[in-house]
Amino acid sequence: MSLPDELAGPLSREWAQLAPLVTRVHWVATTESTMDLVQTMTGQAREGLLVVADEQTAGRGRRGRVWASPPGAGLYFSVLLTPPMKAIALLTLTVGVGVVNGIAAATGLPAQLKWPNDVLVGRRKLAGILAEGIAVGTPEQAVVLGVGLNISAGAYPPEIAVRATSLETELGRAVDRGEVLAQTLVAIAHWYRALLEARYDEVLEAWRSAAPSAVGTTVEWTTPQGPQIGVTAGVDDAGALLVRTSQGIERLIAGEVTWTL
Ligand code: BTN
Repeated sequence: MSLPDELAGPLSREWAQLAPLVTRVHWVATTESTMDLVQTMTGQAREGLLVVADEQTAGRGRRGRVWASPPGAGLYFSVLLTPPMKAIALLTLTVGVGVVNGIAAATGLPAQLKWPNDVLVGRRKLAGILAEGIAVGTPEQAVVLGVGLNISAGAYPPEIAVRATSLETELGRAVDRGEVLAQTLVAIAHWYRALLEARYDEVLEAWRSAAPSAVGTTVEWTTPQGPQIGVTAGVDDAGALLVRTSQGIERLIAGEVTWTL
């Protein structure tokens, strides 16, 4: 299905800047999840296949959560990538930097990152990033990266408005969804190229400056031994969150932390 004009204009203006992140675009009015649609289309394209949906009927988030995806209220897209193994550890942090930079470029809104890859304004979630490996350990190994970004308050159920927000809620005005999509993809593509060129220090520096809570914030997380508490002490070069506890520095490589204050 061809892209609606709202998205086609901005995307075609920025097209030259999107490779290798995006080399082909498929738009659908509705699908269960763009994560799955990309996978079913992998026979047609490898790296750079972007699937954008106006609505998802079974959008999913990290840790098995539902990602509400009503029509017209958000951006819901997934892209298929085949980065080298050594780049995979920093992939979601890299995409997070791109999403924050893209939002700022399109709207001027300064969102922040919360480890590992929540995009927040204050304490409210504006966007989320999901990475799923496919055919892991085989020559066909790839990563599907999904981004959900709330454009208007209709993107999420009213009962979670204390923890969610949208671009239009924050800015108090309508935003151009096509421009947000295009600028977000331009910025993700910029940082993805940096990752492929092994400019890891630049990626990490950009991530750290977009994630002030990664230092000096009291956090809790769950372990098989029970809840833990500590104070964030930065991310290391592998993208792990360092947390100072009464036992010393803990290194969190996956999962999520809750801000306690
Ligand atoms: C999170 O839990 O923070 C990640 C949310 C990711 C949502 C996006 S929307 C596009 C893509 N399709 C999905 O089903 N999920 C991701």
